[in-house]
Amino acid sequence: MTTTESVPDYPMTRAAGCPFDPPPQLTRLQQEAPLVKVAVFGKPVWMVTRYDDQRQLLPDQRISADVFRPDFPGTTRDPLPESERGSVGFIVMDDPEHARLRRLVSAPFAIKRVEAMRPRIQGIVDRLIDQLLDGPRPVDLVTAFALPTASQVICELLGVPYEDRDAFDRAGSQLANVGLPMEDRIQARIGIGKYLDKLVGDKLADPGDDLLSGVAEQVRAGRLTRWDAAGIGVLLLSAGHETTSNMIALGTLALLEHPGQLELLRDSDDPAVVAGAVEELLRYLTINHHSRRRQVIEDFEYGGRLLKAGDGILFPSDIANRDPSVFAEPDRLDLTRDASRHITFGVGPHACLGQPLARVELQVVFGTLYRRIPTLRSAVPMDHIGFKQDSALYGVHSLPVTW
Ligand code: HEM
Repeated sequence: MTTTESVPDYPMTRAAGCPFDPPPQLTRLQQEAPLVKVAVFGKPVWMVTRYDDQRQLLPDQRISADVFRPDFPGTTRDPLPESERGSVGFIVMDDPEHARLRRLVSAPFAIKRVEAMRPRIQGIVDRLIDQLLDGPRPVDLVTAFALPTASQVICELLGVPYEDRDAFDRAGSQLANVGLPMEDRIQARIGIGKYLDKLVGDKLADPGDDLLSGVAEQVRAGRLTRWDAAGIGVLLLSAGHETTSNMIALGTLALLEHPGQLELLRDSDDPAVVAGAVEELLRYLTINHHSRRRQVIEDFEYGGRLLKAGDGILFPSDIANRDPSVFAEPDRLDLTRDASRHITFGVGPHACLGQPLARVELQVVFGTLYRRIPTLRSAVPMDHIGFKQDSALYGVHSLPVTW
């Protein structure tokens, strides 16, 4: 896309003192027009600002998720080298290959299968809360609770042996850290890819009832290569690790800042109330705050504008989830509203495969933590808390809490 007008740089900065709200400049763009231009690393791209348009366009087959295409508007200045293609997984592929690979690993994420994991997830959360209660105060909720919860659930799902979990945890954090130099991120990905390749080999020799054993079975049947199988493992680790843990810590902070809402959650043991609260927290916080990123691959007209092959196109779900035509008083955290239409898990062929698992994890956490530690509170003032402004996943770097 070429343009002579000056366009605002993206991502934009949140307003000081409003850590839970999208950047005001972004909200203004949404009010101005449904389709606007912004610049990513100096290059102009389209931005679809409103909820209905995002829902309509994200599934469009004339739009690609393949980050390896030239001029793709990625989250890092340096594009990923082509040699990385196999190790990123199907999240950056287009159909039909994307759909083929996704189908091969979908079964363990079916709602029934995930529900069957609920008691094990409850056990993980209960044990981690026991450790919190037995340990020193104040304590960082991120490292002592949020990260280990997400990590232990993924390890349980994939079938990662207990003794490897620390290394696995570190790799998950490194993969999500867009602040790391590209070379270090590639090295982290190669390291964890090699580990997962070895683990797939182990599962081929000695299968269990975990997800990686199922993937190994697909390798044995000739439907997947060993390398694709390891790439799927890396994708599940990186997609499911920091996401859930950021939601746990940021969600806790948001609730501590809204004590009336926290009380609603703490005082109810109705699973429907907890489930509704989780949906509203997902909407309100929209932790994937740097847009779903795509590229147009075929010219077409939308809303009176010509989208041309090669144009970058962004879908910021944070402002879609605050679109006042869909959510009344969108900037208010209201755990009693019906927020189920939020698009925090994406829309279209790439919509989050792990959403049933994320939901169960968050329901267990938000339904347990504040009931077991009713006096939980932040141990530092709000202006001492560091937010992950520059990371593609929003959250807090640490959250010192006490009770
Ligand atoms: C609160 C937690 C989570 C959030 C907010 C979240 C959000 C998302 C979003 C927005 C996408 C779409 C990406 C795109 O359109 O480009 C996505 C995709 C994906 N997520 Fe999640 N996710 C979460 C947890 C998980 C978990 C726990 C797992 C599994 C272990 C997971 C696995 C995946 C996978 C495999 C994809 C790729 C789907 C595809 O390309 O077909 N996610 N997630």
